[in-house]
Amino acid sequence: MRIETTAVRVARGEPVHRGDLPESASPELGIPHVPGIDLSTTYGFHRSSSVAESMDALLEGAHDAPNSVYARLHNPTVARFEDALARLEGADASVAFASGMAATSALLIAAGMEESGSRPHVVAVRPVYGGTDHLLTTGMLGTEVSWVDADRVGEAIRPDTGLVLVETPANPTLDLVDLHAVAHQIRTAGARVGSPIPLAVDSTFATPILQNPIALGADLVLHSATKFLGGHGDVMGGVIACSEEWAGRLRQVRMITGGLLHPLGGYLLHRGLQTLPIRVREQQANAMELVGRLGSHSAVRSVHFPGYAGNDAGLVARQMRGPGSVLSFRVHGGASTAEGVVERLTLITPAVSLGSVDTLIQAPALLTHRVVGVDDRVSSGVSDDLLRLSVGLEHVEDLWMDLEQALSRAWASAA
Ligand SMILES: Cc1ncc(COP(=O)(O)O)c(C=O)c1O
Repeated sequence: MRIETTAVRVARGEPVHRGDLPESASPELGIPHVPGIDLSTTYGFHRSSSVAESMDALLEGAHDAPNSVYARLHNPTVARFEDALARLEGADASVAFASGMAATSALLIAAGMEESGSRPHVVAVRPVYGGTDHLLTTGMLGTEVSWVDADRVGEAIRPDTGLVLVETPANPTLDLVDLHAVAHQIRTAGARVGSPIPLAVDSTFATPILQNPIALGADLVLHSATKFLGGHGDVMGGVIACSEEWAGRLRQVRMITGGLLHPLGGYLLHRGLQTLPIRVREQQANAMELVGRLGSHSAVRSVHFPGYAGNDAGLVARQMRGPGSVLSFRVHGGASTAEGVVERLTLITPAVSLGSVDTLIQAPALLTHRVVGVDDRVSSGVSDDLLRLSVGLEHVEDLWMDLEQALSRAWASAA
């Protein structure tokens, strides 16, 4: 079944609706067309012993239990989103969190939950989202990081390595990591150090519509659900798709650290999945058109977009179903021209975040990657003259008119 059809079916399909109907519901009421939102923080019971069994199961990391017990242990609305997302990623399960960063934090904690309980060494490839970079570089959660190029991942793996983390396409340069090649290096290195090392992929920019990392050898797929999965700029969330074994560990971390996705967020993210394929497709078509026009504008030094001008075209074809709708470009004249462009836009919103139905622009060096040290930023391509554009659903001619006038005027005043 095509991914588009699957997205709608998992979000609207039989188990979601029919399974939700309480057995005691009167048949005359019919089956709700739209699933409900369960906001309860606690769940009543008749016998303590039976709810204790449910509690034991959930504390062990079970997917569900006869009684949800307490919302920090389980919530049916959030679980509905998790089940749908897992199916879209081809994973056994997924675990949702309050934000992408809450998901990444839980992942780092869970990676240290092996028998030793020690905080692991992490191998990671730059660039990644600035918050992720900061979390790893500061070692705030007790982890130690080795930043390496993608073709050096295997060499960097040590006996205490607990995780490899990559982001593809990467924020904000749109660099791609060849997942098949990295997974192969990790397998070889795992044999060398005597234990398998999990590969986690932040696939936020691609969404499950354009890329399924598990099919390419990854163990865990992370999304900032705040972006495309929600799609309308009104919900924060994060989610990790993985094996049931990893999901159990992540649920245990979530219930103790409390980085829960609120049920309203679960509802909105589940609803977002229904229009995800069509949003991704339309936003991507707009981005593809803008990329070509930006590339021939005299104020633009370079454009970064998966497969653009033949770069990584083979890799895009092998591991993605399309380039997506986030792009970045460098302007002539440095940071002042970049700022001049942003200030002159009248339709496009200057704001951080991405993946929404409206177009957003920002300078990563100033904002999303501000927390990354300047040398690391520059060496990973996050220069001061770089602008990141998340292309929305507006008419492409309106978007181009806005970009063109801002670029031309900013460049004219810089020259
Ligand atoms: C690729 C990527 N991963 C993770 C995050 C963190 O997600 P959140 O802002 O939902 O915590 C972001 C945020 O911009 C991101 O762009």
